[in-house]
Amino acid sequence: MSEINLERRIKRQAWVPEHRFFAVTTPGLEPLCAAELRALGAGEVLPEAGGVNFSAKLELAVAANLWLRTAGRVWLRLKDFRVRRWEDLLRQADSIPWEIFIAPDVPLNILVALNESNLKHTGRIAEVVGKAAAKRMREVGLTPPVPAQPGDESAQRLQVRGADRRASISLDMSGAHLHKRGWRAQGGLAPLREDLAAALLQHCGYDGTQPLLDPMCGSGTLVIEAAAMARGLPPGLGRAFAFESWPCHREAAWNYMKRQAQEQALAAPPATIMGRDSNREAVELARHNAELARVEQGVGLEAKDFFKAEPPAGPGLLVINPPYGKRLGSVRQAQSLVKRLGKRLAQAYAGWRCGVVLYRPEWADLLSLTDTKAVTAPFGGLKVTLLSGTVPPK
Ligand SMILES: C[S@@+](CC[C@H](N)C(=O)[O-])C[C@H]1O[C@@H](n2cnc3c(N)ncnc32)[C@H](O)[C@@H]1O
Repeated sequence: MSEINLERRIKRQAWVPEHRFFAVTTPGLEPLCAAELRALGAGEVLPEAGGVNFSAKLELAVAANLWLRTAGRVWLRLKDFRVRRWEDLLRQADSIPWEIFIAPDVPLNILVALNESNLKHTGRIAEVVGKAAAKRMREVGLTPPVPAQPGDESAQRLQVRGADRRASISLDMSGAHLHKRGWRAQGGLAPLREDLAAALLQHCGYDGTQPLLDPMCGSGTLVIEAAAMARGLPPGLGRAFAFESWPCHREAAWNYMKRQAQEQALAAPPATIMGRDSNREAVELARHNAELARVEQGVGLEAKDFFKAEPPAGPGLLVINPPYGKRLGSVRQAQSLVKRLGKRLAQAYAGWRCGVVLYRPEWADLLSLTDTKAVTAPFGGLKVTLLSGTVPPK
């Protein structure tokens, strides 16, 4: 196929039409991710368990990969169809313009997920779809991609999902999980995942204009997410995405999108962002991570014990991911720490908004916050509660 012909088809089939997408989220974070997608301008934003469906042009979905803070991955739905018989899958797989989306030199990892589906035999489904892609690529004079080796994280994921009488064929736009922002050197003892940190901040209504304190900052995840949000920096600036290898990818437009985001970002957060930890090494690691994430400007980091330190000027938002029983210390210690936390908040932080990661929902009562809202989400084999509330006046 001539270059011009391919370019025309790329425009007509990839960039001009609206497509359907699915942003995967940690269960519980769907409403937050849906709000992020609406703010980006996505259409038909429909949350369901484990993610959010939306429709958009490809350019907006590229921006969604760059900007979404609470999503794990974005799938482009190449086909969504009714399945009555096996031939329906063959016909749909054959009708995909694979050469527009699949790079010949990136191994292909075909995943199949079936739930009470009319389709059976996952191995055969993967084979049929892989063959359809290979046939089409050969027809247009390209070498088909090789199948991915198990565990190859750089492979292009392609997913066939079947549920009841419907099936879909989707291509992963993101590559590595989106919580991997590209800056983390090492985790510290028990880092919070970045999507949950962003979710806690969003759940508390954080917009960067109020002072922020994380008094047990560990490796700095919450302050780094807060600094990026406060300055309007996209979380994906420092990482690679699967769509960058697609034949339809527009490198110049993508670089322009990133450059523009950087130029429009504030040079520093509009209000103070402070991270503290009683462990000096944790503070050093947080400082190092903030530098790697390029958000150290306007972020204060200090070695201080929460129970002895005075609050910074406020009131503002205090976010905290205290140690918990499973990974650090015992459950009983963690519970008594939450109790002490509640007392210290009442004593010194009247009027502050709080966002707390709790490993037992019933511990919320120990904090005596008012105006509380909770979101639960799985994390590290546990179900954590992201609690927001206000410390009542004295
Ligand atoms: C679960 S970790 C926080 C992880 C952090 N959110 C991150 O993403 O890396 C809890 C942190 O609380 C700190 N810590 C425990 N007791 C403290 C205290 N009394 N004052 C300040 N920090 C404390 C620990 O040193 C540890 O770094």
